[in-house]
Amino acid sequence: MYLMRLTYYSTPSITPEHGGRTTALKDNLAASRKNNATSGITGTLFFNDDYFAQVIEGHRDEVSNSFVRISADPRHEDVIILRAEPIDERLFNKWEMGFASITEQTEALYRKYSASPRFDPAKMSAESLEQLLAEIAQSAQEQAKPEPQKVRRVASL
Ligand SMILES: Cc1cc2nc3c(=O)[nH]c(=O)nc-3n(C[C@H](O)[C@H](O)[C@H](O)COP(=O)(O)O)c2cc1C
Repeated sequence: MYLMRLTYYSTPSITPEHGGRTTALKDNLAASRKNNATSGITGTLFFNDDYFAQVIEGHRDEVSNSFVRISADPRHEDVIILRAEPIDERLFNKWEMGFASITEQTEALYRKYSASPRFDPAKMSAESLEQLLAEIAQSAQEQAKPEPQKVRRVASL
C-alpha cells in the first residue's frame, strides 16, 4: 500500500450561513471523524482565528480524494499546500483526526517551533508544522488517558 502525507494551511472563511464558528467547527469535526475512520485517514487539524493548519495521511488515493473535498469547502480559502509526499510510516497513527485550538498548552508547544508570537503557519516550514501538530496530537492523547488505577493497599496482617 502506498502511503502519503499532505500538509496545508488555509484561512477560515466561516460566515453566519455556516451557523457561526462553533457550529461550523463541530460539523466539520463530526464529518471528519466519520469520513477519516472509513477511509483510514489520520492527522490533526489545528486552528486559531487566522488559520487552519492540517496534516492528513493515509493511502494516497484516499488522501487525494479527501484533500480535493476539503480544499473545495467554502468554510476556508487561500489553501496553501506546504508538502505532499510519499511516506513509509504515519506520524499520526493513533488518531483519526485530532482537533485542537490555541490554548496555553498548545501555545507553549508552538513557541518551540516558531519565533512569531501568534500561530502563523505561513512563517513555518513544512517540517516544523508537521512536528508541531504531531506534538499537539501526542499531548492531547496523553491528557485523554484515563487516570492510572490507584493500587489499594491491603493492610498486612
Ligand atoms: C479546515 C477544514 C478541514 C477539514 N478536514 C476534514 C477531514 O479531515 N476529513 C473530512 O472528511 N472532512 C474534512 N473537512 C470537511 C470537508 O470539507 C467536507 O465538508 C466533508 O468531508 C463532507 O463530508 P460528507 O460528504 O460526509 O458530508 C474539513 C473542512 C475544513 C474547512
